[in-house]
Amino acid sequence: MAEVDAFKASNAAELEALRVKYLSKKGDISLLFNDFREVPNELKREVGQLLNDLKTKAQDRIAALKEEIGAAGASSEQLDLTRTAEPVALGTRHPLTLVKNEIIDIFARIGFTIAEGPEIEDDWHVFGALNFAPEHPARDMQDTFFIEQNPDVVLRTHTSSVQSRIMSVQKPPIRMLFPGRVYRNEAISYRAHCFFHQVEGLYIDKDVSFADLKQALMYFAKEMFGPSTQIRLRPSYFPFTEPSAEMDISCNLCGGKGCPFCKHTGWVEILGCGMVDPNVLENCGIDSNVYSGYAFGMGVERITNLKYQVKDLRLFSENDVRFLRQFESAY
Ligand code: DAH
Repeated sequence: MAEVDAFKASNAAELEALRVKYLSKKGDISLLFNDFREVPNELKREVGQLLNDLKTKAQDRIAALKEEIGAAGASSEQLDLTRTAEPVALGTRHPLTLVKNEIIDIFARIGFTIAEGPEIEDDWHVFGALNFAPEHPARDMQDTFFIEQNPDVVLRTHTSSVQSRIMSVQKPPIRMLFPGRVYRNEAISYRAHCFFHQVEGLYIDKDVSFADLKQALMYFAKEMFGPSTQIRLRPSYFPFTEPSAEMDISCNLCGGKGCPFCKHTGWVEILGCGMVDPNVLENCGIDSNVYSGYAFGMGVERITNLKYQVKDLRLFSENDVRFLRQFESAY
């Protein structure tokens, strides 16, 4: 009896050991019951009573210990509250999202807001309103994906289509960015893909000049690629701008000295731009005698390649975590 009183257990394993030692089939108390046969008849009653008392007492004691452990033991024994929590693996933002957001942030600081348009578009918004002549090669099957053989429904080939949508429904002043995905019928390689991303910019107001365009783009280049970045504008042609230009920045790898990346020219091309053609304003219902404006369009992949030196465009859509994880701490 005193032995039972002294039962001690501070966790479930110790308690189970006690139960096995005393109460299991081959436990000490069960063995005493086995010996009961040999007790002389006249003592059987008394000894039987004692044995039963002993067994009950042991069971009660073990039940009591179990309750004690259940209340206090769970937290102190089974949970180690000093252990650091399981680290939760956070996902990463896609590099194209990071760069798109950075472009948006930079232009938001000078008053640009955002709009989006549909990826499946009609010919008018992608080409017609933007002054593409009916026989312009961009309308060719070679470049453009058509939906269900319908020549009027296309996957937009550029985000300039959102220009024509916004100008048709909004009055100037308009100062907006149009980020989005675009599609072109290209063979996929390390330098071309059948879909990619652009950010389009549009500013329409009274007295907007080419100098305003140049100033905004210079500000953008320095914010994006660092304060020592230089820009240059080369004359170019787009149906929807007149005059049109392409903008280069001083090579951000060699600082303009010349290297294999910039093909030893010291410059790399980053976007197309120009003054919105009066025909485009008129097509969208804006009086070109009162208003003028500039537009620009850049490829998000192109800017990302320059910023992070990604050599193969296909990496952007392969979802290889070894590639994506490298951008974990970016921006
Ligand atoms: N839409 C042109 C492209 O996809 C890019 C572009 C050039 C946009 C000049 C413009 C612009 O707004 O003014 O190649």
